[in-house]
Amino acid sequence: MRRSRILAALLTCAALAALAACGSGNGTTVAPDTIDTPTTDDGVTLDVPADPDVPPVDVVQDTPPVDVVDPDLSVGDDIQDVPSDVLPDVVVPACVGAPGQIAWPTGVSTTFLRGPFLQDVRDSHAVVVFRPAVPLTEQGCVEWSVAGVASLVPFSACVAPDAYGQYAVRLDDLPADAEVTYQVSAGATLTAGPFTFRSAPPLDRPQRIVVMSDLHANKDRTAAVLSKIVTSALSDGVDFALTCGDHVDAPEEPQFDDLFDGLRPLLHRVPLFATIGNHEGRNANYFEAFVLPEADPPDPEAPEMYYSFRRGNVWVGVLELIDWQLAWTLGGVAFGQVEWLAKELDSEAARSARWRILSIHQPPWGRNWAPCSVDNPNFGEVSLRDMLVPMARDKGVSAILSGHFHDYEHGQMDGVELFVLGGAGGGVENVECTAPEGLPTPWKSVEVNHRLTVETGCDALTIVATDIEGNEIDRVSVPHAAE
Ligand SMILES: [Fe+2]
Repeated sequence: MRRSRILAALLTCAALAALAACGSGNGTTVAPDTIDTPTTDDGVTLDVPADPDVPPVDVVQDTPPVDVVDPDLSVGDDIQDVPSDVLPDVVVPACVGAPGQIAWPTGVSTTFLRGPFLQDVRDSHAVVVFRPAVPLTEQGCVEWSVAGVASLVPFSACVAPDAYGQYAVRLDDLPADAEVTYQVSAGATLTAGPFTFRSAPPLDRPQRIVVMSDLHANKDRTAAVLSKIVTSALSDGVDFALTCGDHVDAPEEPQFDDLFDGLRPLLHRVPLFATIGNHEGRNANYFEAFVLPEADPPDPEAPEMYYSFRRGNVWVGVLELIDWQLAWTLGGVAFGQVEWLAKELDSEAARSARWRILSIHQPPWGRNWAPCSVDNPNFGEVSLRDMLVPMARDKGVSAILSGHFHDYEHGQMDGVELFVLGGAGGGVENVECTAPEGLPTPWKSVEVNHRLTVETGCDALTIVATDIEGNEIDRVSVPHAAE
């Protein structure tokens, strides 16, 4: 799969070479080890179980270093976006209402190994996912009712288990911002619920989002860290959850079981939108675990690897690193998700949103990643600094949320707020590296387990970092531009 991705990039580059657009300049040399492989917290490379459908993650490392970045080419110039002066006008809905503020109940059901948990609650649908500890042959079903919608009997839908014994039941035709009460069943004896969630909000509604990264789930970490984040998010009445990758150390099923057990009380009630990290290894177990939106058009190799969605007044783009590294290596050529994102940010869904934010596991900049040295390339991803941040700046993205480094970091580049929030379970980095050359200033870093709460308000985007004891460690407010 990765080989076909490289081939596609090379073919794109070859086509553009006729226009003298590829690899034509002098500039920075690519360090092969900037390509991510799953590692432990102390940097040891993991032996990730092979997936027959997923290539080894080190394929790109075979790519010889090449000189990139034409000095006359502002990276991103050849990204095939549409000039803003020809984009059709869009109407940004007036901002109305407030994000969720009523605390969610905290009860849980442990009937199922995983779930029931909510996925992809947007537009007029929702997906309820659950998996018994022992796979069944019978169908799994969801019954639900909608407050304010008269029905003599509950709505219901049933599906057969998939190859993992997991059920993913889609609830359609939900009215906006409605209280939905559901319960699930599988076979003759397994039942869970009722639980309540809210259907997707109208497009003018602020949202409150809990954002977590680098959970690296196991029983000890979820008990010590994730459980406190989940309790706080329930108390805050968040509208949905967003993760920025590294949910597990390695994409093995028992680790995903621990992850969903730790998230259980939260995901009974709010959906989670996941970003893939390097520890997921593009493994089939990750794509099976989550039911995520797909890009339009979907990535032919992994439809859930990157995508966008709109919830209320916020548009969220969820990214994966490989295309950015390949595109940068090839001199800034746009292909794959680089080209896709440029077009997505010009879409009506993105431009009519009051706020646009991006999630990608690896950060454009980061400071604290051992070992600290001037020769250490791990101060963030140069491909993202050169290509993603300028695109975000030009297309009205307010913030890029990342993890990968196990601490809290924040700074601003080209007017875009950059956050590192890799503190939701993995061992916190215990280093204080000297600031690398070029690091935006001021740049804040705090070595502590934490979460972010993002509120997409009418007047400001407010991002608060809070440690797991409830102490605020940072607060960033981005005022909304005058209309
Ligand atoms: Fe991590």
